[in-house]
Amino acid sequence: MARGARRTDPTVDALVDALERAGLRGHGGAYFPTATKLRAVAAQRGRPAIVVNGSEGEPLSRKDRFLLSARTDAVLDGVLAVAAALSADTVVIAVDGQRVKTIGRVQAALAARPELADGAGPAVEVVAVPAGFVAGQETALINFLNGGPAKPTATPPFVFERGLARRPTLVSNVETFAQIGRVLTGNYDASRWVTVSGAVAKTTVVAVGPATTVAGALNAAGGVTDPPSAVLLGGYGGVWAAAPDALELVLDEATLRTRGLTLGAGIVHVLGESTCAVGEVARITRWMACQSSGQCGPCVFGLDAIAGGLEQLCSSGARHRVEGDGERGAPAGLGQIERWCAMVVRRGGCAHPDGVARFVASALSVFAEEFSDHVTHGPCERCGTGASDQPSLLAA
Ligand SMILES: Cc1cc2nc3c(=O)[nH]c(=O)nc-3n(C[C@H](O)[C@H](O)[C@H](O)COP(=O)(O)O)c2cc1C
Repeated sequence: MARGARRTDPTVDALVDALERAGLRGHGGAYFPTATKLRAVAAQRGRPAIVVNGSEGEPLSRKDRFLLSARTDAVLDGVLAVAAALSADTVVIAVDGQRVKTIGRVQAALAARPELADGAGPAVEVVAVPAGFVAGQETALINFLNGGPAKPTATPPFVFERGLARRPTLVSNVETFAQIGRVLTGNYDASRWVTVSGAVAKTTVVAVGPATTVAGALNAAGGVTDPPSAVLLGGYGGVWAAAPDALELVLDEATLRTRGLTLGAGIVHVLGESTCAVGEVARITRWMACQSSGQCGPCVFGLDAIAGGLEQLCSSGARHRVEGDGERGAPAGLGQIERWCAMVVRRGGCAHPDGVARFVASALSVFAEEFSDHVTHGPCERCGTGASDQPSLLAA
């Protein structure tokens, strides 16, 4: 039996098998097979470390703080089982430093775990990490935990090869660990946690099964407060889907992916008809451009240009414009914005620009009429009225 393992803990092979059979994929947004990642860490030389990613930089997500606060032991069950299987002696639970109460809850739950009493088990530390969209990207997180700025670093080496203190490191999302715990106790049923926000009665974290529809999730959040015009799936790096068809979509990641959609880190955000879609897309894109860590040209300049082009459509000086040629001083046309989106994909050190490009490209397609109307007639009367959920408010 591996050093530090409890008699009931699985070996790493048994854990990998169980996760493979369950088909568990990560809940941090990329949907990567958890068994593959675990196997890669276990195959490295040197004692591995574990980082529980609770950064939750996505403004429309609340599920990680919910799980850390209200399902703390379910998360810790998974974390400690993985630590024992990997013989990891170091675990960092990284939590957005603004979530002071959440940090306190996790620390209290750790103090009450019998497996960790009297210095037994791995050293588990809760670390407050900087807020910000890109700070939760795994190399940025590791760089911060290793004493650097919370900015992405070049790969390779990947974190599974050289991560925390240069050790092989498993970085997985908070929910992924909770789901690992469910797999090990036979309670995994492919349901997941989703944050439902926007034009609903109350922003709510709900458990959804693969057969739950978008409409079902909206009902679980108290129902819509404005007739939906579209639904944003997957958050600020996600994809828009037009209502009313979007309401019938089932919240099953594999099915959604066949249609070019994703739930990302578990986000369902509904846009009501009384909010200007063009204004909302411009506002979110500017926020995302400002989240760039400032290291890669396509991200710094490309996202700024895309956001600027979208903002022009909602500014009062933009009346009766035709498709611009994108030259300096000329307003960017929709074709130019589309081209800029295509140009930033896979050109950054991390996937941040890819997410923004995906978000904007889907908006240009789903809200084609609204965009074309803004190009021809300039801003509408709803432009700039603001969204129901400003990032800073939802994140609070
Ligand atoms: C720009 C960017 C931001 C990210 N932010 C988060 C985050 O806040 N929380 C998170 O768990 N993963 C985030 N990720 C994904 C992580 O890099 C990593 O893939 C994830 O933590 C792995 O966990 P999983 O395998 O359980 O999904 C982000 C990725 C990118 C590209």
